[in-house]
Amino acid sequence: MQERIIQFLKESDGYISGEEMSQRLKMSRAAIWKHMQELRSQGYEIAAVPHLGYQLVTCPDKLLGYEIQSGLNTKVLGKKIVVLDTVTSTMDEAFRLGMEQCPEGTVVVAEAQSKGRGRLGRVWASPKARGLYFSFVLRPSLPLNQLSQLTLMSAVALAEAIEGISDLRPLIKWPNDILLENRKLAGILTELRAESDQVKFVVVGIGLNVNASPHQLPSGSSSLKIAAGRTFERVQVFQAILRSLEKWYSKLLHHDFAQVMEEWKKRSATLNKRIRITDPAGIIEGQAIDLDEDGALLIRKDNGLIVKKTAGDVLICHSRESGNP
Ligand code: BTN
Repeated sequence: MQERIIQFLKESDGYISGEEMSQRLKMSRAAIWKHMQELRSQGYEIAAVPHLGYQLVTCPDKLLGYEIQSGLNTKVLGKKIVVLDTVTSTMDEAFRLGMEQCPEGTVVVAEAQSKGRGRLGRVWASPKARGLYFSFVLRPSLPLNQLSQLTLMSAVALAEAIEGISDLRPLIKWPNDILLENRKLAGILTELRAESDQVKFVVVGIGLNVNASPHQLPSGSSSLKIAAGRTFERVQVFQAILRSLEKWYSKLLHHDFAQVMEEWKKRSATLNKRIRITDPAGIIEGQAIDLDEDGALLIRKDNGLIVKKTAGDVLICHSRESGNP
């Protein structure tokens, strides 16, 4: 019922009288008043003026399920959304739901993570209510060796969504870092459950620094707020990302990875740069020249040899080789 009341207040232009609300929502004015008190305790600021009625002034900066769902209009991503306060990691929660046969596109989002994790065993700083920390479950019929497509697709979707809600133009550092002015704004982590070469489900986790200040982030990081000089409504940012993910995921399902790659390349911070890539096999330095058809990075070493990397940690070599996340 509270969802309906909020919807009502959002749709009404100016004040709406208690009388009109009680008629349209078919409940007593006392009941409406009680709901208003409850909504205020959740952080909604609602003005009440005698003879005029109620008006919504501000919404709380909270990731509320019905706020996220309201007007989302996606068919897969976010059809089911689990909102949590503090978790160890949304990856664990999403993985658990994946094992319980949750529908494809189920999203787990948290206000904070006590053990947010990144690639290569790194920690993902997740200060409360300052970012978006979420994981979603996909069940694509892709062979194991093509799963990196999901990471590249998510990076494209994320960069496009951020550009759509701000004046910022984030770049993608291979394979999955979203950068603004060479600082890390967001990261993507992909984990999966497979049985004898058969992918059961994939969990993609995204961490985006939204309203975090420098002291809340590791050095070399940025946030939308730091870069744009203003705060962002996290629900709006989240909705834009979910819509964009749905759009780009549907391209993958329609076997249009070529378009994902094309967009990825346009936004690349890595291609045509001199890089140093570290993986368990060692360190390679050379020119990042292209992606192969599955999204692996092709590097031309100084001796002319071209090597292919499907994973690794990339450092972009600037002239002084500094400042890279
Ligand atoms: C990286 O850049 O190394 C990937 C970072 C991924 C962080 C997100 S935050 C939501 C989800 N839960 C986690 O513990 N990690 C991912």
